[in-house]
Amino acid sequence: MAFETILVEQKGAVTLITLNRPQSLNALNSQVLGELIEAFAAFEADASQRCAVLTGSGEKAFAAGADIKEMADKPAADFYNEDFFSKWTSHIVKTTRKPWIAAVNGFALGGGCELAMMADFIIASENAKFGQPEIKLGVAPGMGGSQRLTRAVGKAKSMDMCLTGRMMDATEAERSGLVSRVVPLADLLGEALKAAETIAAMPPMAAVANKEMVNAAFETTLDQGLLFERRVFQVLTASEDKAEGMKAFIEKRPGVFKGR
Ligand code: HXC
Repeated sequence: MAFETILVEQKGAVTLITLNRPQSLNALNSQVLGELIEAFAAFEADASQRCAVLTGSGEKAFAAGADIKEMADKPAADFYNEDFFSKWTSHIVKTTRKPWIAAVNGFALGGGCELAMMADFIIASENAKFGQPEIKLGVAPGMGGSQRLTRAVGKAKSMDMCLTGRMMDATEAERSGLVSRVVPLADLLGEALKAAETIAAMPPMAAVANKEMVNAAFETTLDQGLLFERRVFQVLTASEDKAEGMKAFIEKRPGVFKGR
């Protein structure tokens, strides 16, 4: 697949996707959107690929937001009629069952922060900065910022971020639960790929199930979530990988998993 705005590499069972418009701080225009959707669909469809990492090129930005230059003169009716931004969430989040990690290397602002929050978790570099500054442009988050940021960090911080448009540094982001780890910039990609390789080596059905269970916590009551968890756990016990995983433990050797 030939892409112009992103780079896609397969590293063993891990797909590395790099936003590649460093001259615009990896701003997310519609071409990036289209290419990301294709890249995620290819990752999802390729049985040899088990986890993905999304990062930004350059040391300055993961993505500084939706492309303001593309949106500046766009008529409101076009935003409405195209249901602008709907494809991001529906394609990348809802159809990607396999786990993926955002490795945030610098600014993750507006749509960049929202894209990072679509990941299953975020690993950030020490220079990372998160923000929903759309209010300064006379708009508001449009790709899930008001919803996912609030779920991640709670109302107080989310209101603070959305209403003042201020940035949160990596330390505050980790303290607030927005990111799972903070590492030096030089170690970011290595750390994210290592985490992805760890996940890629897990029994694949169990990886998908764990992801779905955690996500269910945001959508259900506790009772329904607990029932979902128990039932999925019980289904997994029928898998060949469960038999192999437990046998391998008892025989003190690494498991060899087939995704069945
Ligand atoms: C288009 C962008 C961009 C963006 C940066 N650039 N962000 N282009 N869209 N979101 C471009 C700049 O125009 C400039 O190119 C180049 O990238 C470098 O940026 P500088 O501003 O010169 O860098 P710096 O001074 O270091 O400032 C970095 C920054 C600033 C603080 C990240 O660029 C910034 O504030 N960017 C906008 C952040 C933002 O508001 N994001 C939210 C967008 S709205 P040129 O060629 O001009 O020099 C959104 C969702 C909208 O994401 C939802 C609506 C429904």
